[in-house]
Amino acid sequence: MSEIIRLREFLDELIPSEDQLQRLYQNFCLQIRKGLGSKTNKEASTKCYLTYVQDFPTGNETGKYLALDLGGSKFRVLLIILKGDHDAEQISKTFELTETELLGSGPHLFDFIAKCLHEFVCENKLESENLPLGFTFSFPCIQTGLTKAILLRWTKGFNCSDTVGEDVGTMLKTAIARRSGLKIEVVAILNDTTGTQMSCAHRNPPCHIGLIIGTGCNACYTESVDNCERLEAKYKDKPKIIINVEWGAFGEKGGIDHVTTEYDRVIDKNSLNPGAQLYEKMVAGMYLGELVRLAMLRAVNENLVFSQCRLRKPITDILTKKPDCIATKVLSDIANDKGDDWPAVREVFKQVFNLNEPDPEDCKKFKYVCDVVVKRAGNMLGVTLAALVNKVGEHFTVIGVDGTVYRCHPNFDGYMRETLDKFVDQEYKYDIMLSEDGSGRGAALVAAVVHNDRMERSRGP
Ligand code: BGC
Repeated sequence: MSEIIRLREFLDELIPSEDQLQRLYQNFCLQIRKGLGSKTNKEASTKCYLTYVQDFPTGNETGKYLALDLGGSKFRVLLIILKGDHDAEQISKTFELTETELLGSGPHLFDFIAKCLHEFVCENKLESENLPLGFTFSFPCIQTGLTKAILLRWTKGFNCSDTVGEDVGTMLKTAIARRSGLKIEVVAILNDTTGTQMSCAHRNPPCHIGLIIGTGCNACYTESVDNCERLEAKYKDKPKIIINVEWGAFGEKGGIDHVTTEYDRVIDKNSLNPGAQLYEKMVAGMYLGELVRLAMLRAVNENLVFSQCRLRKPITDILTKKPDCIATKVLSDIANDKGDDWPAVREVFKQVFNLNEPDPEDCKKFKYVCDVVVKRAGNMLGVTLAALVNKVGEHFTVIGVDGTVYRCHPNFDGYMRETLDKFVDQEYKYDIMLSEDGSGRGAALVAAVVHNDRMERSRGP
């Protein structure tokens, strides 16, 4: 039997069958139903949070807005100028987050945010303007309105003390107030998925789903208020509301065990949040490189890769002792490799393993392992997305997407469509649209539609 076939067999558990995907679909639909129900919400892993975003952009929005974007590997402050006619301009500044921000105290993190905001406002001479601000805060929160969001847990690489159970809006406002000279009104707190959906809907109104596949992974969608048992009656005069599914948590109450492998269990065990965000750990950028490392380590130990390599022992040591030695970015670089002598794989072998003259067979196998891990993520995401397209139930649904994994990996879109095509009901059509900076522009759009709504209400009927 050829070695690549043996490797294929060895990786079999990372290649979900039709039947497994079908079960994934059913289990996910059940979790969504439970998440929406008031009595069943407690048992659901996907909590289907109410975002209170009930107005959608027309494209005619105008005005100047500030936006903050916290949730990925960097923090950003933006000024967005909505120009009407589906058009917008923006200026932004990115700030690095160090361990002190990611793992320090909550008050420190919010002081850091206020400091960056202050710096940005001064640099752009905005001190005298009283600008509305949208805060994209991409972690699971219970919202009780647009400006009140209670943090339920940190995810991805964040774990700040004194924040879980607190209102993020109040923490932000207090930190801003501590810096005199900032005239800012926080008008909306939103998730990055909501921002993505709104920014795509600004250009393309049938955008009913927002999806992020970056460091973390999550989706939101437009639901009828009639299906939202937990929504108070006063919000039911509008027909729709965006639901933040928080599907990263799918699996916490079962539902994905049948596709979970030993690699996934190790990732979970070694993470900052064991037992939580189980689906996210199979599909998001923070974990894909690590899944490849674990699969490679086992494959090397089984003599399936590097079997003839003189550096086999040091390579095994690196794979064992250096978690995160394979960055998720590498998976995209390798898939983008156009040459037939694997230049990107060679580069990784050189950088990570000090291996200069790899056997072409090993290059081919490494590329294959990366592909299997990415394909599993894309295929599974296509299944859960299809469930949302069917749930939205419109003839045509645009899925707005953002996130580095989707943007940078050349095959991700195709892997997702493979299963979307199988699971979306025939009566519905869908398309996928890359968002233009969902987190920033989306935050400004939410701020704008809230502002317009308030003006309309104050004018009366
Ligand atoms: C968070 C979500 C977020 C997603 C993408 C997840 O870890 O729980 O709120 O939308 O990451 O950033």
